[in-house]
Amino acid sequence: MTIELNKIYCMDALELLKQMPDQSVDLICTSPPYNTGNKSLGYHPNSKTGDKFYDEYDDNIDEHTYYKFLFDIIKESIRVSRYTFWNMQMLSNNKDTIIRLLHDFKDNLKDVFIWEKQAVSQIIKGRMAKGYEFVFVFAKDCSMTFEYRNFPKNEYVPNIQTWFKKDAIPEHHATFPINLPRYFIQNFSKEGDLILDYFVGSGTTIIASKQLNRNYIGCDISQKYVDICLKRLAQKTMFDLMQPFVEKQEGGAIPPTDKSVGIRPTIL
Ligand SMILES: C[S@@+](CC[C@H](N)C(=O)[O-])C[C@H]1O[C@@H](n2cnc3c(N)ncnc32)[C@H](O)[C@@H]1O
Repeated sequence: MTIELNKIYCMDALELLKQMPDQSVDLICTSPPYNTGNKSLGYHPNSKTGDKFYDEYDDNIDEHTYYKFLFDIIKESIRVSRYTFWNMQMLSNNKDTIIRLLHDFKDNLKDVFIWEKQAVSQIIKGRMAKGYEFVFVFAKDCSMTFEYRNFPKNEYVPNIQTWFKKDAIPEHHATFPINLPRYFIQNFSKEGDLILDYFVGSGTTIIASKQLNRNYIGCDISQKYVDICLKRLAQKTMFDLMQPFVEKQEGGAIPPTDKSVGIRPTIL
């Protein structure tokens, strides 16, 4: 099977990765299933997913199988791409796996980014409400300096941002806000580069790639989600209509000044 640019496939992530040559992708931005145990995460008043967390995939697998699933995919991601931005939230069903993975890939961990959520979800009696998620950055090396980058002129790219998920997709429980992939694509790739998301879900990374004039490849195990992604791709978004205006505005991040110390600027 030939993998083509700007296509979304219904297939297994590892199978797709195995077909890709070494260092053929500029940037991966993705979020795996969290092994939620099929419990609902977050508050989705208009959810159309029913009781099941995902369409095809059972998000409730044993620890060893889950660890091996993610290990193989991260290993392949480091082989095929320059940078992998890997979004995960630590839950009781996956924290052991996260800690093991960080140890296994310590020589490939360039940075850890925090996505601070404006809406704090998953209120469980006796537990702290979860207000953030991680984005681990994997690459061939663990230097915290990014040689290949598209940073703003002031070089100020904070590793924490606050984003609110405005663009909820009723058919998919576990989407990230479009500002998340947009931030990494904007700062760590250039126009015409290739962006990959093999857990494409509703296609958030793919939409951001298209908006920022990058090439993309996506895949998901569920045809239903592939179809949602294709439908979103076909729609003209407000961002597309405002593109000339947005480009003028995006000079990059605002560096801290004496007056703004303590205030984190949000880019995009
Ligand atoms: C956390 S969601 C990704 C959501 C996406 N970031 C978005 O914003 O819509 C994880 C996705 O991985 C998919 N998935 C699970 N196992 C997979 C596999 N082996 N290969 C490809 N996709 C898989 C699920 O169907 C689900 O859509």
